[in-house]
Amino acid sequence: MRIGQHPLSSNLFLSPLAGYTNLPMRLTLRELGGLDWATTDLVNARSLLERNRVALQLVASSPEDRPLAIQLFGSVPEEMRDAAVMCQELGAQTVDINMGCPVRKVVSIGGGSAMMTELAKTASLVRGMIGAVKIPVTAKMRLGWDDDNLTAPDLARVLEDAGVAAIFVHGRTRAQGFSGTVNLAGIRAVVQAVRSIPVIGNGDITTPGAAKHMLDETGCAGVSIGRGAFYDPWIFRRTDHYLRTGELTPEPDFNERLRVLRRHFERYVEFYGEEHGSRLFRKVAPWYAKRFGPAKPFKTGIITIKSRADFEAVIASYLAWRAQFCDEAGGLRAKFAPAPMVASFMRDPSDDSALDRSAIPVPKGPVEVW
Ligand SMILES: Cc1cc2nc3c(=O)[nH]c(=O)nc-3n(C[C@H](O)[C@H](O)[C@H](O)COP(=O)(O)O)c2cc1C
Repeated sequence: MRIGQHPLSSNLFLSPLAGYTNLPMRLTLRELGGLDWATTDLVNARSLLERNRVALQLVASSPEDRPLAIQLFGSVPEEMRDAAVMCQELGAQTVDINMGCPVRKVVSIGGGSAMMTELAKTASLVRGMIGAVKIPVTAKMRLGWDDDNLTAPDLARVLEDAGVAAIFVHGRTRAQGFSGTVNLAGIRAVVQAVRSIPVIGNGDITTPGAAKHMLDETGCAGVSIGRGAFYDPWIFRRTDHYLRTGELTPEPDFNERLRVLRRHFERYVEFYGEEHGSRLFRKVAPWYAKRFGPAKPFKTGIITIKSRADFEAVIASYLAWRAQFCDEAGGLRAKFAPAPMVASFMRDPSDDSALDRSAIPVPKGPVEVW
């Protein structure tokens, strides 16, 4: 598949996860393979134009961090246009527009026509951006406000006419937040609404099988993975392999998880400085621990680290404690192993334990703009 003129080596994308999908995480995931196109966390267009320190850190990149989309957030057309130009100057391959859900609930102010007004306004903002840059502009949206206002197909069509190069769609409404399951029929409706641009489906992909299921059921050109990459940073490589060969490779073992955890941590420290990077990593490391098996001392220790030495000390004492759950060869005994990941579409609704295991937690944050 392509986005604009860019041919892609994989149809798997990293979804923006504010607070996580920074340069250290993107490089860590890219190194593991299977991922081509990655997106920054959302960046406020005005802050970027003001060269705000945090905004510049959010768009920081490196030559290995390619191809890269910078995701912009804002509603002032001139700011969005100028920020898109800045993204191009910064070397981004595309600009993605965060449209969490641009259409306000319109019941009280005139129903469908008001909705079309919003769509026209959005299209005009997008046209202003597209006219100002040479790189492709893409958009990320939800299905709509709620089940009675599934506006994504209309919006996608309007955006395609305005010149948007691809649509990313999270298969939930804004009212849903992160509850319930992803509506594959809703994603399919977006795929069917556009003429030729790629639609990339998103939501709840935690296994290679779930990615294939979404591709098969919706006809989308690619899938974008967010929280699934927390659990399984190898998900892109494993899914890419599965889609090409039909062969499901096993999840990586504990030693490989530890190796990648260390690499991710080291990148945090290099990027943010030792103390700040260590503090920030406190919220990242527990995601790795979700697939460690017994991990309580790791989880309680890691949220206190302030340095490389602290980090290594937590690992050393955790490894000593963990040995009691392992066999002579050092592997976790079967009864302590984490349950296999179960894709949400495969859940047996009558089996509560399966549901608990596979429900994907949502890290805290401004859900209304995601
Ligand atoms: C912690 C967190 C931060 C997010 N930040 C963004 C963001 O910056 N921009 C955006 O478009 N979506 C954001 N999202 C939404 C995700 O990109 C994605 O659409 C959603 O999590 C569903 O995909 P998943 O089930 O694969 O995680 C965020 C989601 C989470 C959980």
